[in-house]
Amino acid sequence: MDKIEIEGGIPLVGEIPISGSKNSVLPIFTACLLTAGSCKISNVPDLVDIRTTCLLLEVFGASVDHDNSSTYTIDCSKLTSFEAPYNLVKTMRASCLTLGPLVARSGKAKVSLPGGCAIGERPIDQHLKGLKALGAEINLSHGYVEIEAKRGLTGGQVSFDLTTVTGTMNIMMAATLAKGETVIKNCALEPEVEALAKFLNKMGAKIEGAGTNIIHIQGVNSLFPAETSIIPDRIETGTYMVAAAITSGDLSLTGANVKHVNEISDCLIKCGCQLDVKVGRIRIIGQDEIRSTNIVTSPYPGFPTDMQAQMMTLMTLAQGTSVIKETIFENRFMHVAELRRMGANILISGNSATVHGVNHLSGAQVMATDLRASASLILAGLATRGVTTVSRVYHLDRGYENLVRKLRAVGAKIKRVSSP
Ligand code: EPZ
Repeated sequence: MDKIEIEGGIPLVGEIPISGSKNSVLPIFTACLLTAGSCKISNVPDLVDIRTTCLLLEVFGASVDHDNSSTYTIDCSKLTSFEAPYNLVKTMRASCLTLGPLVARSGKAKVSLPGGCAIGERPIDQHLKGLKALGAEINLSHGYVEIEAKRGLTGGQVSFDLTTVTGTMNIMMAATLAKGETVIKNCALEPEVEALAKFLNKMGAKIEGAGTNIIHIQGVNSLFPAETSIIPDRIETGTYMVAAAITSGDLSLTGANVKHVNEISDCLIKCGCQLDVKVGRIRIIGQDEIRSTNIVTSPYPGFPTDMQAQMMTLMTLAQGTSVIKETIFENRFMHVAELRRMGANILISGNSATVHGVNHLSGAQVMATDLRASASLILAGLATRGVTTVSRVYHLDRGYENLVRKLRAVGAKIKRVSSP
């Protein structure tokens, strides 16, 4: 398994291009299942989760082509299977995003239950509640969920018990081909939900209200292929913003959408950073002294849970004490033990972490446990004199395109080391 070695303490200066959003690609790729024909998706990052999604689509009989560019052509004209196997689903929970499109297009779907992951149990009860409200029959057996809608789906009222991003996406996709109107309440407001709705409407869907907590969908008989370009990755953007802050650097993030990182920007300004924003470019200048601040994660437009670990790393070096509350996932403090090994002073109580700033961290051998925790350890290494080695970096490959190359280009002493 590969490792990443960092010799930190160097202010990062220069330009980093922001890649397409992983969490926008996954639903847009599965939305292609809704139509017979070729959809063209551009600005797709080269990530493990994208490759897993392509494998899933090919299992269903789709053809996926991208001639090694960031533009993918996905043709779902001939679907030959409606079953997402456990060996693929267990590696990527977002495989559940195939449920809605498959049952809408073909009246059936059999998808392995995702199972939990490092950050939590990750149930899909809300997804199933929504599909049932659209007339689907649900059967759980042997670790799979089997869904049938012999006479097709019928529009209905769906009100989620809690805000779910992929749940909102799944029901929105399913409702596009349901007979009649569907109203979904307590929807997620994430930009990735809006981007999916925009793509579905390009395919001929009739969706209104995406980006608000109530979405109306008028079902249509069929959808046609369409093209779209993936929005920039707001979590990658936030991660590199913290890289500038934690190294007292000066980074310009090109291709970023500042509207999608408002909460992160506000937080970093509170910590003493300076921001200079132009269309499509965010410049963030870190200061020598980092001010502490408190954080409570919440659904968009609140502070994103996917940035909690990265901000915690910054707070380990802040003047004073910060309290970080994780309200979305039940086990998203896996990075704390590793940060403590680097000298961080963090106390956990339930879903709250109290971080007492220290003057410096010390380089160490640390282990990544999940995608965003691994990013937080890279950030700690960048801020720390001496050498930090991060193992199990396959977690990073799921969500950060060309991370080592991007950081080296702005002065980081970082390299990927292959080890048996
Ligand atoms: C999406 O996951 C993102 N993944 C996650 O990003 C992100 O952390 C999360 O939204 C929250 O913002 C993708 O978009 C592919 P949820 P999702 O359904 O949709 C509970 C990353 O690092 N819940 O909004 O799976 C759930 O357990 C990943 O890129 C139910 O109880 O998250 C969680 O506690 C990690 N029942 C909360 O709701 C359900 O049916 C929010 O989950 C669904 C969710």
